[in-house]
Amino acid sequence: MSGVAAEHGDRPAETEPLLVGHAPVLLAEVVAALAPRAGGRYLDGTFGGGGHTCAILEVSRPDGRIVALDLDPEAIRRAGGLAAELPQPHRLHPIQANFADLATVARAEDLVPLDGVLLDLGLSSFQLDTPQRGFAFRLDGPLDMRFDPTAGPTAADLVNELPERELADLLFRFGEEPRSRRIAAAIVRERSRATIDSTARLATIVSNAAGGRRGRETHPATRTFQALRIATNDELGALQRALDGAVSVLAPGGHLVVISFHSLEDRIVKRFIQLESTTCICPPDQPICTCDHQPRLARTTRRAVRATPAEIAENPRSRSAIMRVAERLDEELESGVGTTHRTTGADLLTAGRRR
Ligand SMILES: C[S@@+](CC[C@H](N)C(=O)[O-])C[C@H]1O[C@@H](n2cnc3c(N)ncnc32)[C@H](O)[C@@H]1O
Repeated sequence: MSGVAAEHGDRPAETEPLLVGHAPVLLAEVVAALAPRAGGRYLDGTFGGGGHTCAILEVSRPDGRIVALDLDPEAIRRAGGLAAELPQPHRLHPIQANFADLATVARAEDLVPLDGVLLDLGLSSFQLDTPQRGFAFRLDGPLDMRFDPTAGPTAADLVNELPERELADLLFRFGEEPRSRRIAAAIVRERSRATIDSTARLATIVSNAAGGRRGRETHPATRTFQALRIATNDELGALQRALDGAVSVLAPGGHLVVISFHSLEDRIVKRFIQLESTTCICPPDQPICTCDHQPRLARTTRRAVRATPAEIAENPRSRSAIMRVAERLDEELESGVGTTHRTTGADLLTAGRRR
């Protein structure tokens, strides 16, 4: 990655190892959307390997500041190493925290209002490629899947303790797994023989229950692993809280940039931006607006941004990346800037007076 290595110029070898291991997706697009500037304040809610943070640091030279969050202590350790490498270490402040709490963290760090918030969801290649973290069905390891491996129940706890019906619902809801009932029944049968505590054993159980790999592009355990990871980390709940928090700490003109990797996440982001950028949220069959809803965001792009074929060829992980961007509205300019405005009672009265 060019980021800090380029910023230093004279010390690329020291910073390079921090960045090897996870290729940031849609890097140019993220920078264009956030438009970092000198003196700006940014929050990267998902530091990971630091690729996006490095680019923001570089473009916001000489004094742009970033608070970088991650639940994973390893990512925060990498961020600490990166900060120590910077000519002005205070420009990067790493904090081990859930991005669900980003508004609280930003206020505590006296960084409000922020000029930009970035969320690059999911997991990093560091996590996927480390068998001990238990995210990958292709590598054998403990069935863990926690972004913060020191807190909360593991995926193995869910797999071994949830009632069959709840397990099936979880696989269907968070993995959109059509064979959820069959897979849940197989898990319950197998766990009565011996606790399921490894990724390889779970992958085999799921694969056998789902009828094996034949004719499939993806591994039969893909959806099950996604569902368990989402549930283990309450990913969708954290995302919703992060979006709510981001809007409350962004400066007018500040940007919210979110990269999702599956439709469940993207749906939440898309609906949130839609809701926050509309002037009326009354039921569609209500002829007169009574909600007095004030839009707080404006969509900067109507369509989601996707990786180019060239990026996908270089980094296959970017194939499923979906980026959405919105701009925080100025409180005083909010009315009438959103995307929908149904007739309000006040509009009708004004029109009546004009007639
Ligand atoms: C896709 S990686 C980010 C990669 C990063 N943008 C880069 O350029 O290297 C996602 C990161 O978000 C972290 N993460 C996931 N959910 C989180 C949450 N709720 N709060 C904080 N960090 C989270 C993961 O631990 C992981 O390191």
